[in-house]
Amino acid sequence: MRVLVLLLFSCVASLAQADEQALQRFNQLNADPLLRQQAYAAGQERIRFCGNCHGENGNSKRPHIPNLAEQNPVYLFNAFEKFASGERKDYVMSQLAPNLSLEERVNVAIYFGQQKLLAHSEPVDPALRQQGEVLFKTICTGCHGVNAEGRDTTPRLAGQPAEYLRRALTRFRDKDPSRAGSVMMSIAADFSDAQIAALAVYLQQLQP
Ligand code: HEC
Ligand code: HEC
Repeated sequence: MRVLVLLLFSCVASLAQADEQALQRFNQLNADPLLRQQAYAAGQERIRFCGNCHGENGNSKRPHIPNLAEQNPVYLFNAFEKFASGERKDYVMSQLAPNLSLEERVNVAIYFGQQKLLAHSEPVDPALRQQGEVLFKTICTGCHGVNAEGRDTTPRLAGQPAEYLRRALTRFRDKDPSRAGSVMMSIAADFSDAQIAALAVYLQQLQP
């Protein structure tokens, strides 16, 4: 028991330390354009493989894969931490995440955060879109921002593929263990499939 507690404590301590170190690094990069450029270049080297799914420019190649372009770097970094620690699970990402060093995760987050999000051009059902807008403005803007642009620890949702959003929201609602512990579980708990579809359609077409 004592060993377990100690082990748990050292895990939590090292996670907290990593967060602190990463935030320091982000602040340092924000303040220094030259360092930021170097981090960007290193990130670009590192993401070749990621580009197969997320696109070299962070615009995903499949509708069930999230865009990383213009996503908040700290959110991207945290998502990586969650895949590495097992709090969030995905077949590919859970294997990739532990292999990147803290420095590489920061660089990759800087690289993708600076890519431009491309607009979706598929036509949408105006009634569905409007239903999504009402829901979003009533429930979600406090955390995700008025235009779904996100904050440091809350992801940007504007411009994400509708299919990815639909799947993510359905998992939250169904308390799928792949995103255990997320604040989104209680928020999505009572949503119908139709409401989830409306939110997804509205958010996909929001201009970044
Ligand atoms: C084989 C396809 C594939 C490859 C390669 C891949 N990813 Fe992913 N990635 C995914 C999928 C699918 C998800 C969504 C998982 C989920 O639904 O939770 C994801 C999620 C993410 C997220 C979380 C985004 C969010 O909005 O929450 C980040 C960050 C990420 N990937 C970064 C990377 C990086 C960096 C690499 C390269 C080192 C990479 N991925 C390689 C498929 C891939
Ligand atoms: C209390 C604050 C809060 C509210 C309110 C909130 N969210 Fe979130 N949301 C978060 C946080 C924090 C995360 C990231 C944590 C995580 O990965 O689970 C998140 C993650 C998400 C994701 C996953 C994004 C990704 O890239 O994987 C979606 C989709 C989402 N929220 C949609 C919504 C919608 C739609 C609403 C309104 C119905 C909403 N959220 C309301 C805090 C909130």
